[in-house]
Amino acid sequence: MKSSLLERLASPCCAGPLRLDIKMQRGSEIEEGALVCAVCSRAYPITAGIPRLRENREILSRTQESFSWEWTRYPGSRPEDRAVFLEESQLSARDFQGKLVLDAGCGMGRYSLVVRAWGAEVVALDLSESLDRLMQAARSDPHLHVVQGDLLRPPFKKDSFDMVYSHGVLHHTPDTRQAFRALAPLVKPGGLLSVWLYGKAGRFKDFATNPLRPGRGGIGRHRRLAWLIVAIRQLISDSLRFFTTRLPLAVTYALCYPLAALGAVPGLKYLTFSVETDFKVRLIEDFDWLSPPFQFHHTKEELSAWFVEAGYDILKVLPHGLVPKPGILGRRKQT
Ligand SMILES: C[S@@+](CC[C@H](N)C(=O)[O-])C[C@H]1O[C@@H](n2cnc3c(N)ncnc32)[C@H](O)[C@@H]1O
Ligand SMILES: [Zn+2]
Repeated sequence: MKSSLLERLASPCCAGPLRLDIKMQRGSEIEEGALVCAVCSRAYPITAGIPRLRENREILSRTQESFSWEWTRYPGSRPEDRAVFLEESQLSARDFQGKLVLDAGCGMGRYSLVVRAWGAEVVALDLSESLDRLMQAARSDPHLHVVQGDLLRPPFKKDSFDMVYSHGVLHHTPDTRQAFRALAPLVKPGGLLSVWLYGKAGRFKDFATNPLRPGRGGIGRHRRLAWLIVAIRQLISDSLRFFTTRLPLAVTYALCYPLAALGAVPGLKYLTFSVETDFKVRLIEDFDWLSPPFQFHHTKEELSAWFVEAGYDILKVLPHGLVPKPGILGRRKQT
């Protein structure tokens, strides 16, 4: 942890200021120490360079273990990360230059590294142990910060960031809406917030107005059928997940091997949860779908309402394919 980060941090217990106790420092990086809440004196450790600003809540333990398993096995950054992030964030590379950005639920940090390369100062937050991977990059980068914390009690002062993005994360917390409400005030007035969530069929009248990617006109002409397919797919997935979220992680992971093999078979691959070309990536993505205990699904109407309720103007809504992917870019209103 770099001492410059302290001015952005707040305690997860009381949202109060924190006092920094340094035990071991190497260059500008504080490797061991503690952050102490000035309100209630609760101490949070800094170990292996990472401030651990979270309570050990039982409800989060499988989530933490599952994503730690997943991201420590993920192959690493890939060339397509940039294009994927640009599409999902609905922003351009130059929007990031000189900005202070929070990657809320960064995983192994593939998008933190992309945004950092575009000239942003990045604070990467996650619950899992995958942060150790990103910490290796942060040690030689004065503008990359790594924080372990819980998005339902994010350890940051309000109005701290020019931009916050959270892609594929909030639906994995025990309460998506509460996580959104905790995140939205961290953006400065006038700043940007980009969020995407897993989608669901929902009401047909909402599904029928979902924005589609260019080239997906076929879905547009058969909306009823598409809606039915999405609803059935969700039913099958929920039934499978009833078991796979309760199995030991190693067993669920082992079950993903045949699924990942099926993911390469033309036609049949759409029965799986990943059609990526790389076997290892498919394996991790199937596990990512089947193992985490919380996986909620939302509509663009729900997400839009949360943006408006939190004082944001909606700038863009993410177009997608057959399976809805509610994604919104919003700007926080000036107060
Ligand atoms: C599907 S991964 C997405 C990671 C990253 N955004 C990406 O696209 O590469 C979801 C991430 O959310 C994190 N997460 C889940 N619940 C969280 C919580 N309550 N607080 C912080 N992070 C959480 C997980 O540890 C995991 O790394
Ligand atoms: Zn406190």
